[in-house]
Amino acid sequence: MRIGRTGLVVLTSVFVAGAALAHEGATGVVKERMDLMSDIGDQMKIIGTMMKSGPYDTAALAAASGKIAAHGGPAMLKLFPEGSIQEKSEAKQEIWTDWPKFQAYAGELEASAQALQDLAEEGAGKELTGPAFGTLAGTCKSCHESFRVKK
Ligand code: HEC
Repeated sequence: MRIGRTGLVVLTSVFVAGAALAHEGATGVVKERMDLMSDIGDQMKIIGTMMKSGPYDTAALAAASGKIAAHGGPAMLKLFPEGSIQEKSEAKQEIWTDWPKFQAYAGELEASAQALQDLAEEGAGKELTGPAFGTLAGTCKSCHESFRVKK
């Protein structure tokens, strides 16, 4: 199987950064989106472990990628109302000055998670789902690089 180096590196950085900060202090929509991102991170971890050390289970893969897809697109965007930054937040102001780009990344996340889910539902092997997972992981990295403060 192959996820590709980039996919693995992305995963590692996403999880380390996510685990570093607890959500205490954040409220309302900011807390909600942190929880949503954490759940996405948990699902990615399930998939990453499955890809790396197995057992490979397309039903579990479809379920995990389906949850990520449901958190992307409009579901994610509605948790980023203009100017919603708090002390604990890692969101950058650029989200709202460059909204079309942010919107596009949220859409790519949804589409790539959906693509992975579709493959899993067809019972595809790792040679197909591995690269699809790499593409999905790439959307996390792209959006975080532009729109998330490294704290
Ligand atoms: C459309 C942009 C975008 C995409 C796509 C995206 N994220 Fe995020 N993510 C953010 C932003 C912005 C924050 C900071 C939110 C805040 O602190 O207010 C964040 C925060 C996080 C956090 C930290 C949550 C916390 O505890 O504070 C984790 C973990 C995370 N993202 C994981 C992921 C993973 C895994 C993916 C891909 C499967 C992903 N994200 C895709 C924009 C994105």
